Amino acid sequence: MLKVVVLISGGGSNLLALLKASANPLYGIRIVAVGADKPAPGLEHAELFDVDTFVVEPGRFSTREAWAEKLLSNVQHFEPDLVVLAGFMRILPANFVDALAPKLINTHPSLLPKYPGAHAVADALAAGESETGVTIHYVDNGVDTGKPIVQQRVAIEPGDDETKLHERIKVVERDLLVQTVGKIADGSLQLIH
Ligand code: GRF
Repeated sequence: MLKVVVLISGGGSNLLALLKASANPLYGIRIVAVGADKPAPGLEHAELFDVDTFVVEPGRFSTREAWAEKLLSNVQHFEPDLVVLAGFMRILPANFVDALAPKLINTHPSLLPKYPGAHAVADALAAGESETGVTIHYVDNGVDTGKPIVQQRVAIEPGDDETKLHERIKVVERDLLVQTVGKIADGSLQLIH
């Protein structure tokens, strides 16, 4: 069983997809903990699946590095084989990233390197793109700059606004994340620097 820690900031629909998939032992992963940078609504999904949770809020630390050190010690307590950022909306300092890479991946709602950052869906719409998508990538010390592991396209349709488009992206994103973590668990995808 691949031991996975998931970090979130929001509603946690990607987390929920992983929790549901992991209920099947054949999937080969166990979510050992879910962490957040605030009391995120998605933590409730973890509680319903009896998974440990932790919250480490940056406002309680004098530096980003001190916050990240505490977050890291919470993560490492669970001895994960993989850490998944699933809608975790903060940039992680190098002391966190370097301790976990390459076993640290992120899901992002655009076809990176296009539209990194927190407004990827709005940015793709504003640029008049006809398609955008999802990227699952390694986390490095930049903002959404790590090497892509897998990408999937999503068409932008007439009448799309940010909410509609993001919802359609998230349907694709959840499946791609579940598939990708499954491949890491069964060894068909190996994480390398
Ligand atoms: C996802 O689209 C993720 O890529 C982005 O924020 C969204 C989080 O959704 N960074 P959820 O919290 O998993 O529902």
